[in-house]
Formats: sequence, structure tokens, C-alpha cells
Amino acid sequence: MLKIGIINGSNLNMLGKRDQKIYGNITLEEINLKIKSFAKNEGIKLITMQTNFEGEIIESIQQLSSQVDGLIINPAAYTHYSYAIADALRDCSIPVVEVHLSNIFSREDFRGKSVTASACIGQIAGFGYQSYILAICALQDLLEKKSKKIK
Ligand code: DQA
Repeated sequence: MLKIGIINGSNLNMLGKRDQKIYGNITLEEINLKIKSFAKNEGIKLITMQTNFEGEIIESIQQLSSQVDGLIINPAAYTHYSYAIADALRDCSIPVVEVHLSNIFSREDFRGKSVTASACIGQIAGFGYQSYILAICALQDLLEKKSKKIK
């Protein structure tokens, strides 16, 4: 069974309340229920976590990378400036997909830069909670091909 870890960064625990024009009214709990049900149908186990602290994100990357086959990360505002998270992602030996609920390129200028995306195999942004589902599909495809050694 494929195992995927999902790390959510700062302020994502406030989804449902924060900036509803951008993020809608869905809560992180509701997102996790939707993506866990999708993953279960695909035979994938998800381990989800959220923290507001940069160091905890780094520790989760380090710890989860020995427990799961791939990682999905929404570093939230840390996306735009955390070289420490980018280094942790580069040092981990499993594939990582960066996701964002919003289209970070159509918002304030500072959001258009991700210092973490280059440490990932790719980035998905702008599809709300579906960004996580698309990331699960991308990782599933990559990991299944890897295990069968096909291109
Ligand atoms: C976000 C985009 C970031 O710019 C922002 O700081 C967030 C959420 C997103 O999922 O759209 O907290 O990562």
C-alpha cells in the first residue's frame, strides 16, 4: 500500500475562517476528510499534519520521509522565504509535491515566488482542495511507475 504524508504549514488551521474570498469556507478538517476518502478508494494511506512552526515542518519532513513513499507539502507563507524548509526538502530522499489552494501567481507579487518549489518534483496551485487530490494522483503515478521501473 502506498503511503503519502501531507504537511500543512502556517495559518492553514484557520481555513474556514481566514480570507474566505481566497480560500472559501472549507476547513482543513473537511479537506482532510475529502482527500482521505479519495486516497482510501485508490488504496493509498495518508498521514496528515498541520503546524504553524517552521521547525516542526522541518522535523516532520525529516521524520515522515522514512515512513512514507512520497510527501505533499503546503508550506503556506513559508513558501516565499524559508530556505530552511527548502533545504530539508532537498535533503529528503523521497519525491515531494508542493501544493497551494490559491493561485499564488495571481495574487500579491511576493506570493509569486516560491523558494521551496525547486526542491520538489512539481507544484500544483489554484485548485482549492483539489490541488491536494491532483498532487496525490501525480505522486501515485510517479511512485507506481517507479516501482515497476517504467518511464
Ligand atoms: C497558500 C498561499 C500562501 O501564499 C499563503 O501564505 C497561505 C496559503 C495557499 O495554499 O494558497 O497561507 O499556501
